[in-house]
Amino acid sequence: MGRVKGLGIVGFAAMLMFAGTLISSARAQDKAGEKDKPESATSSSKPAEQKPLEKGYVGSDTCKTCHEDLFNGYEKSPHYKTLLDPHATASKQGCEGCHGPGEEHTGDPADKTKIFSFTTASTEKINSKCLTCHASGPQQMNSANSLHRKNDVSCISCHSPHHAQTKEFLLVKSQPQLCYSCHLQQKPQFNMPFHHRVNEGLVQCTDCHNPHGTAGPKQVRASATQDAVCFTCHIDKQGPFVFEHMPVKTEGCVSCHTPHGSPNQHLLKVSNVNLLCLQCHTTSSFSGAPGTPSFHNQAAQYQACTLCHAQIHGSNVDRTFFK
Ligand code: HEC
Ligand code: HEC
Ligand code: HEC
Ligand code: HEC
Ligand code: HEC
Ligand code: HEC
Ligand code: HEC
Ligand code: HEC
Ligand code: HEC
Ligand code: HEC
Repeated sequence: MGRVKGLGIVGFAAMLMFAGTLISSARAQDKAGEKDKPESATSSSKPAEQKPLEKGYVGSDTCKTCHEDLFNGYEKSPHYKTLLDPHATASKQGCEGCHGPGEEHTGDPADKTKIFSFTTASTEKINSKCLTCHASGPQQMNSANSLHRKNDVSCISCHSPHHAQTKEFLLVKSQPQLCYSCHLQQKPQFNMPFHHRVNEGLVQCTDCHNPHGTAGPKQVRASATQDAVCFTCHIDKQGPFVFEHMPVKTEGCVSCHTPHGSPNQHLLKVSNVNLLCLQCHTTSSFSGAPGTPSFHNQAAQYQACTLCHAQIHGSNVDRTFFK
């Protein structure tokens, strides 16, 4: 519940409890896939016994002699853990795990070409450096498909090992500002009257998207069962139902909903529910959906389709989704 603190207006408390629970259980599910991740480094741990260095490497203690401030920050960062690994060699450890062999540089610090500099390297070189260790991470599995990677957005557009602004994940900015800094179009969507409460901190962009790339389109995550990500939180919509409403299964949630935001309180694509249903349920539609029966005249009574067809996501008892 930590993240929803401060939103606890009494009237909404129960709903928020529900929301908090479903989000934390979704996150727990996510974390379950990462359980073989080693524990985090603590500054009280001692570096492992020094092994003989590979050719060209000098070890992080040498870097410390001239870059003490960076070393002190590094000591408190998650990457310090590489120095605690007794099996790692110098090329996978400490400063040189990222910056490469430092011998030439220590001999001639003024010549900046003698050390790998992230501030001047190309996007692809930066990405490959970071991926030497992170390619096998569960979040990075589809990094070859990453639209960020393909569009010149490097790891350090979002992460900063030395100058991170967030406690977790070494981000250059916290969400959603990080994402809005490039995705200006999405900002007004989350200011619509009804929206997933991303700006309020209840849901994050990365609950639905994986910025490191996904197998499917639009970098949208899949649920633990490789289904729509929406089911991680809206589990009651998953079914299976005896009577399925076909578009839920075939075209998915976004055939009716705009998850970012909408003028409709249920995040529907169009402002009135009848207009949504009648996009498919007309005799002239090619969707395979039956037209509405003739007694469904457009008198006000019939416009609120879900008043009668209440179980619109599927039903176990009624073919026409009344209950
Ligand atoms: C003898 C002192 C000395 C040692 C030892 C040393 N450096 Fe440097 N380093 C410097 C100086 C001086 C600069 C240039 C700083 C500047 O111009 O801003 C520099 C620059 C750098 C840069 C380039 C920064 C940029 O502009 O992108 C990196 C990266 C770097 N050092 C990493 C390391 C690493 C890693 C080690 C250990 C392997 C190391 N240094 C050891 C003195 C040293
Ligand atoms: C996880 C990879 C990684 C490790 C480990 C790492 N660096 Fe860096 N270093 C970077 C990146 C990326 C940058 C570019 C600035 C940023 O994004 O934080 C950078 C920038 C620098 C700079 C340029 C000045 C600055 O403040 O940006 C120096 C000097 C430097 N690193 C030295 C070191 C030293 C010394 C160590 C060990 C104590 C070290 N680095 C460990 C990735 C790393
Ligand atoms: C568009 C922004 C963005 C880019 C580009 C990006 N990341 Fe991330 N990364 C994030 C965010 C945001 C998180 C926070 C975790 C979350 O909420 O999913 C994260 C989490 C992580 C984590 C911790 C989670 C885990 O266990 O994997 C690692 C490691 C990581 N990123 C590495 C990388 C590497 C390596 C690259 C480059 C190949 C990269 N990232 C590129 C935004 C980005
Ligand atoms: C030498 C191997 C190595 C390299 C190279 C490396 N990392 Fe890491 N990274 C690690 C390890 C080990 C951890 C700690 C994992 C853990 O705590 O489980 C880590 C953790 C992280 C995390 C998660 C921090 C958190 O709060 O959970 C991020 C983000 C990250 N690295 C980004 C990067 C980026 C960006 C680069 C390239 C500039 C990079 N790493 C290069 C080994 C590496
Ligand atoms: C509740 C889940 C959810 C959240 C939260 C979410 N998105 Fe999305 N986003 C989606 C889905 C699903 C699509 C694909 C829509 C489609 O295919 O029509 C999408 C599409 C996109 C696209 C592609 C362009 C478009 O509109 O189709 C971008 C860019 C994007 N999202 C960025 C963001 C950013 C930035 C945030 C946070 C500020 C965010 N999203 C939060 C679910 C989400
Ligand atoms: C440094 C700029 C930058 C940052 C920061 C950034 N993105 Fe992107 N993002 C891009 C670019 C460039 C593309 C590819 C071109 C496009 O489709 O807009 C892209 C593509 C995407 C797409 C796929 C869009 C599609 O049409 O398929 C999604 C989803 C997305 N980003 C989500 C995020 C999220 C979530 C964050 C924050 C964690 C984020 N981005 C941070 C620049 C950025
Ligand atoms: C991280 C959890 C999470 C994910 C993933 C998620 N949602 Fe939600 N969703 C929520 C929460 C929490 C609320 C209600 C609280 C609020 O007002 O923000 C909500 C509200 C909604 C509503 C409006 C409910 C109403 O009151 O009528 C719809 C529709 C919806 N989500 C659809 C989707 C779709 C479609 C997806 C997948 C693209 C999705 N959600 C993914 C957490 C999530
Ligand atoms: C055929 C169109 C359609 C599809 C497809 C669809 N929905 Fe809905 N959804 C609706 C309508 C219409 C409502 C408003 C119901 C009402 O008026 O009571 C709604 C309401 C919701 C609500 C809020 C009310 C409630 O019942 O909890 C959530 C959450 C939701 N949908 C999630 C989803 C998810 C997740 C998916 C994908 C599995 C999905 N929807 C697919 C039409 C659809
Ligand atoms: C994206 C297209 C689409 C949308 C939007 C849509 N439907 Fe459907 N609907 C279908 C399809 C396709 C079927 C399945 C027809 C079949 O099984 O032969 C169906 C089946 C039905 C059935 C059951 C018909 C029967 O006799 O089995 C009802 C009732 C229904 N829809 C009501 C609605 C309502 C109410 C809405 C608006 C909330 C709606 N639909 C929105 C495509 C859609
Ligand atoms: C006042 C209640 C009510 C409302 C409101 C309502 N319906 Fe119906 N609907 C029914 C009844 C009753 C049936 C017939 C069920 C049967 O045949 O068992 C039906 C049947 C249907 C069928 C099935 C047709 C077939 O051939 O199987 C569709 C599709 C449908 N309605 C769509 C809609 C749409 C779209 C709306 C909104 C524009 C809507 N309904 C509004 C009561 C309602």
